[in-house]
Formats: sequence, C-alpha cells, structure tokens
Amino acid sequence: MSISNQSELLGMQQAGEAVALTLKSMRDYARPGMSTGELDEFGRSVLESFGAHSAPKLTYGFPGWTCISVNQEVAHGIPSRSRFLREGDLVNIDVSAELNGFWADNGGSFVLGASNPTHQSLVDASKTILQKAISSIRDGVKINAVGGLIEAEAKRRGYRVIKNLTGHGIGRGLHEAPHSIANYYDRLNRGKFHKNAVVAIETFISTKAGWAYENGDGWTLQTRDGSYVAQHEHTIVVTDGEPIILTLANGIWE
Ligand code: CO
Ligand code: CO
Repeated sequence: MSISNQSELLGMQQAGEAVALTLKSMRDYARPGMSTGELDEFGRSVLESFGAHSAPKLTYGFPGWTCISVNQEVAHGIPSRSRFLREGDLVNIDVSAELNGFWADNGGSFVLGASNPTHQSLVDASKTILQKAISSIRDGVKINAVGGLIEAEAKRRGYRVIKNLTGHGIGRGLHEAPHSIANYYDRLNRGKFHKNAVVAIETFISTKAGWAYENGDGWTLQTRDGSYVAQHEHTIVVTDGEPIILTLANGIWE
C-alpha cells in the first residue's frame, strides 16, 4: 500500500507494533525442551491480546499462528507439539498479522540458549545485511539495487542468498505489489521504491544453497543440500530519507 494520510500511518504503526512485540515475546519465551507448538500457542495469545489475527492463517490457511522454522528449515515451518527445541538450535520465527485492516510482517532468526558460533555468525550477518539494505532504501532507489547490495554483502562474508524467497509489498494484505524484492540483482526487475510505499524487506542468507524447496508437508521450505539459512524481516515505510521501520519492538534493533 501507499500511505496517504495520518490515520493510515497510525494503523500501520499499530499493526507493526503488534507483530514486533509478539515476535520479541516469543523469542524471550522460547526455551530448550519446549515444543514449537507450545511456542506458537504462546504467540497466538500475544497476538490476541492486541486484537490481531494471524496473517498466514487468514491468507493461506497455514496450520499455525506463526511460522517457526528450526535448523535446516528455511521458512514456513509448521509449529508442532511433537517438535522440541534444543540448545544451540537455529530458530526462525516469522510473525505476520492483520490488525484493524492493516497488515505487518516481522521475522528473525536466532540461536537458542547455548552458544553456537557457526550459527551465530550466520545470524549476525543476516541482521547486519538487513540493516544495511533498509538504510539504502529511499524514494527512487531501484529494487534490484537493494537486491544486489544484499547479495554482495552475503558473498563478502562467504555466504550466498536464497533466490526464490523475497521481500514484498504489504499493508492492506499480506502480499502486495511489488511482489518480488529479491535478495540478488534481478536485472529483469525494473521497479523502484516510491515514497510512502509500505514494503517488507527480508534477507535469506544461506551457508551454500541458492534455492529452497517445499519438503513434502505442503508448507515447510528447505534446501536440498541441508544448508542453513538465516532470515530477518522488517516492514518499513519508504520516505525521502531513512525509512520508517514499523516493526522494531520498543523502537530498537535486536
Ligand atoms: Co514474514
Ligand atoms: Co514477508
């Protein structure tokens, strides 16, 4: 969507805050030994406390309130009462929701509990690259230039990017135009970012593979070679200067 007045900005800020605080609460709540199903139910209760509704459930009939992807799962992992988290797991939680007709999307990978330097480096790279990508966006910037920046930053650190998972427009629905904000220089994408546009920017930084495939359960995406992938995602409003980030919990990067 393109924000055209103060009440739309306020609506997007409220939706952004709901998903950001839900994601942060879930991350703080996650413990080794907990099932991803239990973590998801907790997320549901936080979303409901805001009056927000799970976006993947509303839009696609996803069998969970949030997407929780563990270790080699890249995205769209299905929460389950029989999937237990362990120390050092690479965990990704992606929370998207609708509130009063406004939609926001926020995700992040983290290492659970005990340190895991290999996973931590990947997580840190993804987070730093997302920050750099978002800082580079303003009115008139080419979408493929931001993709090129993300890919170059990944390569510089010895990583690659997943090419078939992308950021997207958002606001009055979960996925809106522009439908593909790729993590690489897509020369066929001639689009630009425009002032007041609301977009979700999401990294997919991979240890090796460049493509994610559905694993047979109808939802979960994985690579074929078992690569690990970290994702971080924020919903932003494009301006003439630095974007407004709508999904920072309490206004801070974590
Ligand atoms: Co998301
Ligand atoms: Co998204």
